[in-house]
Amino acid sequence: VDVVALGPEDAAEAVAVWEEAGLTRPWNDPHEDFARAVLGPASAVLGTRLDGTLAGTAMVGHDGHRGWVYYLGVRPAYQRRGLGRALMAAAESWVRERDVPKIQLMVRHTNPAALAFYAALGYADVDCYVLARPLGAP
Ligand SMILES: CC(C)(COP(=O)(O)OP(=O)(O)OC[C@H]1O[C@@H](n2cnc3c(N)ncnc32)[C@H](O)[C@@H]1OP(=O)(O)O)[C@@H](O)C(=O)NCCC(=O)NCCS
Repeated sequence: VDVVALGPEDAAEAVAVWEEAGLTRPWNDPHEDFARAVLGPASAVLGTRLDGTLAGTAMVGHDGHRGWVYYLGVRPAYQRRGLGRALMAAAESWVRERDVPKIQLMVRHTNPAALAFYAALGYADVDCYVLARPLGAP
């Protein structure tokens, strides 16, 4: 499976993958998210094509200490063919190549299928809460 770094020209197709995979949220603008990740110095959107169609993506970035994965999604018609696994392997390589020692991601409690997928890849829950607070206008 070939996984490549996507460019600005792939935005519409990547957002379509995210929509089909159920990854978009009304409070995030996926086009902005895509542009920020593709243009930023410490992030990328990786993608894989089958029959010329963008079948899946993974957004990856790092803060020097940890790598993070977002927007991992495979179009439903292409799922269970190893593409998710290949995208995660490529995200891991991307992080490792930048000398960042670990990689992590967040999964919603309401997404047991994704949890099963990550468990199959050797990912485990770490003993840690994720805390968040919305930052309104100052
Ligand atoms: C999660 C997702 C990216 C997996 O992609 P995929 O290409 O279907 O995954 P793979 O084919 O590489 O699966 C690898 C292994 O993970 C496990 N797995 C994958 N999907 C699974 C599921 N729905 N239920 C249980 N195990 C699953 C299996 O062990 C699978 O190996 P197998 O097919 O030989 O049994 C895909 O299901 C998806 O896009 N889901 C919707 C979006 C999403 O939830 N993303 C994660 C957000 S945190």
